[in-house]
Amino acid sequence: MSVLVTGGAGFIGSHTAVELLESGREIIIIDNFSNSKPSALEAIKKITGKDFKFYEADYTDRKVVEKIFEENKIDSVINFAGFKAVGESVEKPIEYYTNNIYGALILLDTMRKYGVKKFIFSSSATVYGDPEIVPITEDCKTGGTTNPYGSSKLFIEQILMDLYKSDNSWDISILRYFNPVGAHKSGLIGEEPQGRPNNLMPFIARVAEGTLKELSVFGNDYNTKDGTGVRDYIHVVDLAKGHIKALEKLEKENSGLFIYNLGTGTGYSVLDMVKAFEKATGKEVPYKIAPRRAGDIASCYSDPTKARNELRMDC
Ligand code: UFG
Repeated sequence: MSVLVTGGAGFIGSHTAVELLESGREIIIIDNFSNSKPSALEAIKKITGKDFKFYEADYTDRKVVEKIFEENKIDSVINFAGFKAVGESVEKPIEYYTNNIYGALILLDTMRKYGVKKFIFSSSATVYGDPEIVPITEDCKTGGTTNPYGSSKLFIEQILMDLYKSDNSWDISILRYFNPVGAHKSGLIGEEPQGRPNNLMPFIARVAEGTLKELSVFGNDYNTKDGTGVRDYIHVVDLAKGHIKALEKLEKENSGLFIYNLGTGTGYSVLDMVKAFEKATGKEVPYKIAPRRAGDIASCYSDPTKARNELRMDC
């Protein structure tokens, strides 16, 4: 089985590429290194001892995407090539909607043209907006997204549901990630955002290594156990394995359209994360309490029962 992985040099893409190769599948990666580095591709080869075809290109370039489908026998597509910084998306809505939505449409249209109808989409817990209840099940209301990044995920989910309604020979898996963290045990791939990190864990890591002075904890007056934001941090390798399970399901004939939360079911506060990091590394993480960050919510964690039962996910 051959899988096209868009954004395969990125954080989640590279870890999933490793799991795909280790599961015996062939992969083809397309990435333009807009938020990743070529060294990730070498690392994937080193970890797995396997080679793969790579196209350095933008997945919104229809000509290149057509060329990839022309030159390769592709059975399924996993789309990781989205832009993902919440704050940046507010500044650059057109770039976000173009890359995320137009890119997905180009992929789907080309897949249709070449008769490839198995698609896994990287969605996000952000589609639940400010959740009505926690833990969040897949049946919870979506919408009320507060930034173009989240809205782009929500719109693509809707596009996929409409596509499936129009032609139920598609097999589609929408995976709603909670907060992916960590790195491959080899230490060769991990999260390496370019510039100043937006997300908590890479920020903490840079404070611990001394590149950044201190962490700003965005708000300590939320309605949570210690007042700081609570999230569901899932290890990136567990998340990558979730894609293999979803793919196994799609590879069976007529599996249909499925939506899964990929999280652990446990919420941890910002201060829990700081303490756990200090304990694991023996390094101090200096922090100060700062004002709340615009668009943040108090608590967001999953009910992972559906993925656990149907995909046999255990994380
Ligand atoms: N936080 C800080 N200081 C920082 C960075 C983050 O206190 O420097 C806090 C945030 O306020 C929040 C928690 O740490 O309470 C997690 O923040 P992240 O920026 O790491 O993650 P978010 O929960 O805001 O968003 C992440 C992804 C989104 C995804 C969402 C799904 O960035 O793409 O998880 O839950 F949609």
